[in-house]
Amino acid sequence: MKHLLDRFNRVPLISVAPTPLEPMPRLSSLLGGARILIKRDDLTGLAFGGNKIRKLEFELGHQDLEAYDTLVTSGASQSNHARATAATAARLGKHCELVLERRIRDSSRAYRLSGNILIDHLYGAAVHHVDEGDVADKIDALVADLVKRGRRPLVIPPGASTTHGALGYVRCALEMAAQARAMGVSIDHVVLSVGSGGSQAGLIAGFELLGLPVTVWGICHGPPGDKRQLVFDILQNVAATLALKTETRACEIITESGQIGAGYGHITPAAQEAMTLAASLDGVLLDPVYTAKSMAGLIQLVRSGLIAPHETVAFLHTGGTPAIFAYANSLSPLQRR
Ligand SMILES: Cc1ncc(COP(=O)(O)O)c(C=O)c1O
Repeated sequence: MKHLLDRFNRVPLISVAPTPLEPMPRLSSLLGGARILIKRDDLTGLAFGGNKIRKLEFELGHQDLEAYDTLVTSGASQSNHARATAATAARLGKHCELVLERRIRDSSRAYRLSGNILIDHLYGAAVHHVDEGDVADKIDALVADLVKRGRRPLVIPPGASTTHGALGYVRCALEMAAQARAMGVSIDHVVLSVGSGGSQAGLIAGFELLGLPVTVWGICHGPPGDKRQLVFDILQNVAATLALKTETRACEIITESGQIGAGYGHITPAAQEAMTLAASLDGVLLDPVYTAKSMAGLIQLVRSGLIAPHETVAFLHTGGTPAIFAYANSLSPLQRR
């Protein structure tokens, strides 16, 4: 099946492939069942890893990189995608321009200066802060200005959730299935955070290609809480690119809204519990914005019986760990003294 992906160019960015698939035995036992595995895409390597690295491999592989000298992208102030793009630009010897949207009102020093933003600057990216809703206009103006100055910009869509970007998660599904087979288990469910949709769409396509009946649960970290159409549209494009006749209908895609709480970037008590359990029981660090909410979703699915004690669930760790430092004010017990 791997040969299907071999015909797509990929810029190699992942340091260690495949990323590990390992058990979380103590969380499993605390919850009284469901074998919990974790796919460590927080360990994709470049710039603290995460899912964007996998997507950028295929998205940039699809482009004529010689034609561009600057990567331009956007995200929230503490965007993991922006940080991954800044690192990728540096790795490829290109400039990087980031348009970062003020999506939450956290004026703490840590949020403004640490976490992903600090890393963006270390990679030499030019950072442009804009108010919510102003991203598209700013990108247009920025691109026009870059061109006027003789630069050759390539704009990467938010989250790199393009058709080719999503192929990174088709590859991840193939990897996970092979790793599970080698461990002698079969995966019944995968749980992951869903934002721009490329990771979930790629995984669904990958498991379909293999003919494996895996239920893929996308957990939303902010509104809208229904991303089925978004994921479905990417899935359709991925399927067409792979000449796969997908059986999945939009209404069968699962995007859960129960973990959103007060919204994007606002940590919930359930997410805080998930962070503490994963770290203290199995030594896994989660980020407060994405993976803590998706792990809270997994815990809820096991507790409610929707994932049964005899089943195997793989949690996809999509990265984001630098944001822990940006959220020091709300996370650190020392701050509360
Ligand atoms: C750490 C992390 N996990 C999950 C996601 C969501 O992934 P996707 O955009 O592929 O849906 C993002 C990006 O928004 C992210 O930064």
